[in-house]
Amino acid sequence: MKELIQKLVEAWGPSGYEHHVRQLIQDEVRELADEITVDPLGNLICRLGSSGPKVMVATHMDEIGVMITYAEPNSGYLRFTGIGGLLNTTLAGSRVRFENGTVGVIGMPDPFGTGRMTAPELEEFYIDVSDGSATSPVSPGTPATFWRPLETRGSRLIAKAMDDRIACAIAIESLRRLKALKKKARPNQVYFVFTVQEEVGLRGARTAAYGVNPDVAIALDVTHTGDMIKNEKMAVKLGGGAAIKIHDPGLVVPPAVRDWMVERAQADGIPYQLELLTGGSTDAAAIQTARAGVPSGCISIPTRFIHTTSETVDTGDVEACTRLLTGLLSNAAPF
Ligand code: CO
Ligand code: ZN
Repeated sequence: MKELIQKLVEAWGPSGYEHHVRQLIQDEVRELADEITVDPLGNLICRLGSSGPKVMVATHMDEIGVMITYAEPNSGYLRFTGIGGLLNTTLAGSRVRFENGTVGVIGMPDPFGTGRMTAPELEEFYIDVSDGSATSPVSPGTPATFWRPLETRGSRLIAKAMDDRIACAIAIESLRRLKALKKKARPNQVYFVFTVQEEVGLRGARTAAYGVNPDVAIALDVTHTGDMIKNEKMAVKLGGGAAIKIHDPGLVVPPAVRDWMVERAQADGIPYQLELLTGGSTDAAAIQTARAGVPSGCISIPTRFIHTTSETVDTGDVEACTRLLTGLLSNAAPF
């Protein structure tokens, strides 16, 4: 699974430009799903099973990034706006990568000359793509993602775009484990949906939920941990198991969905923790209000340093999330 995770987190795919990630996933699932379709917005929909409750599993393919808005004349400096929620305090010195392979470095007004120690507004940052020649390798209208390769430290995995490619890896692995089961151990119609444009407003999940019309939905996404130094009060910790969401600003998980997940984790002896998130949301927030309404919940992957180039997860949690998802999908969903 490590190799798959590496391919996914290092792939290039800012919101609205998920084509490389979609191709990569399509190649992985080709032999596993009964039917694979791509909807008009670009969501990749993989169905396994053709009878029983319809369960939608949503993981997003896109990642945060930048869009070039303006080229400063004759300088190799570019101005940009954010794709998704950028953290200004983490930008200076970060590297971005364009689809053509060009790597740029983000700068801010000289912190040495001005003595400035705090992050400026986004408009004051710039990206250096100068290469010593007279022409710029990148022009306005070009998107980029942040760039760092995967690092491993014991049971920890550190990368950009763990949000939400680690969940894509979990969904693919779960599909693989389900496919290996006898047909009667697959009592649901499962729609694994790899969504687009989550980071800019849960847009892909909204249309995919309308198209799939599920009986119940599970989003898989990263969540914060409360175990960092001086962090806020939050009970989720890295290495503590799969996080079952109870509440976030966009979703009140129905008790029936929460109990369905908790009882499965207990029955299968899977380490789990309960997630109460006070900032942020997931695809489940959009899915729950599709059509006449869809009971929706989340399996969350505890992650440190979200929306930086060093999003950190624990392989034990990744396995717990994979087991919980597979356990839910291999028993008839009570919806
Ligand atoms: Co995110
Ligand atoms: Zn996410």
